[in-house]
Amino acid sequence: MKNIKNKLFSKEPVTIGPESGYDNYIMAIESSCDETACAIVKNGREVIANVVASQIKTHAQFGGVIPEIAAREHLDSINIVIDEAFKQAEENANLNPEDITAFAGTVGPGLVGCLLVGLNAAKTLALTYDKPFIGVNHLNAHLCGNYLDTDLKPPFMALLVSGGHTQIIDVKSYSEQNILGETIDDAVGEAYDKVARLIGLPYPGGPKLDKMAQEGNSHAFKLPEAKVDGYNFSFSGLKTAVLRLVKSFEGEEIPVKDICASFQECVSSTLLHKLKTALAHSGYKQVVIAGGVAANSEIRKKIFALENEGYKVFAPPMKYCTDNAAMVASCAYFNTNTFDDVNTEVFSRAK
Ligand code: KG4
Ligand code: ZN
Repeated sequence: MKNIKNKLFSKEPVTIGPESGYDNYIMAIESSCDETACAIVKNGREVIANVVASQIKTHAQFGGVIPEIAAREHLDSINIVIDEAFKQAEENANLNPEDITAFAGTVGPGLVGCLLVGLNAAKTLALTYDKPFIGVNHLNAHLCGNYLDTDLKPPFMALLVSGGHTQIIDVKSYSEQNILGETIDDAVGEAYDKVARLIGLPYPGGPKLDKMAQEGNSHAFKLPEAKVDGYNFSFSGLKTAVLRLVKSFEGEEIPVKDICASFQECVSSTLLHKLKTALAHSGYKQVVIAGGVAANSEIRKKIFALENEGYKVFAPPMKYCTDNAAMVASCAYFNTNTFDDVNTEVFSRAK
């Protein structure tokens, strides 16, 4: 629970969070990369409105996200997604903008020009409706995607896998988290995207590679599982191994599906080995997966297999795995590493 009194906004302190004693409706905006999103969530779990405008088509022609273009597209979409979220809130819950308890926005990590668009929109809404503003860390928000439509409560072990991060996190409480390990080079999503590109799959590579892998033989090629200390990961060597494998087929047809399946097997096994060790060490019985790569079919399959070993597994539905604003609203409610000062600036790298 927290009492928020923003210097510029909201004249009276407002209590927000699970113990506030009244229903909280938080509107959040997410614009850290190539998705412009706005959502309204009741009490951190019940999604009242959820709107996402994806820029995938725009960036596909360049083979990746172009930050400058992404920021401009956010500008074009931001008012549209906000209007649509208010419309959904009225239709679904008879909710007006004045009923919103607080406005939240992603502060970072992400692309600075993109973050600025969403964050300033959230601050402007707070100012307009005289409500508190809450800044949210994008990585914490991904974890909170698991609170949406579930009864998940800490403590639990989390595997956070996205385009920029690969972490095993001990979530001790809603606000206390300990990163046990992370990648020392490429993030999993980054490795997926780079490998997809080198075998000629179009952007966005991760989901395309996943699809190809499902049709291939995962034991066709033995790729190396990097040996890294503790709960840390490394994926750059694996990427190089795939490059060497692809080159070995020069002049012949490249067995793309088998390479994808073998790569996917190696990545998912590596992640699960370390996650299982962390789980056993913690004594926790709940495990969570979050981030864009949580949409991956094989990683999901392997993590859900932990249910046979007595663990309760949480994985957000696809729409809450990739970037969205509902997870941001949930994070603002549960107070996980949020920034409540309206002067909070955006930041590009995790801190
Ligand atoms: O969390 P996210 O939407 O954005 C970041 O915060 O990074 O994650 C995007 C990443 C991209 O690298 C994308 O290729 C990857 O998630 N991704 C996948 C799948 N769906 C998305 N990677 C593997 N398999 C998938 N099915
Ligand atoms: Zn993300």
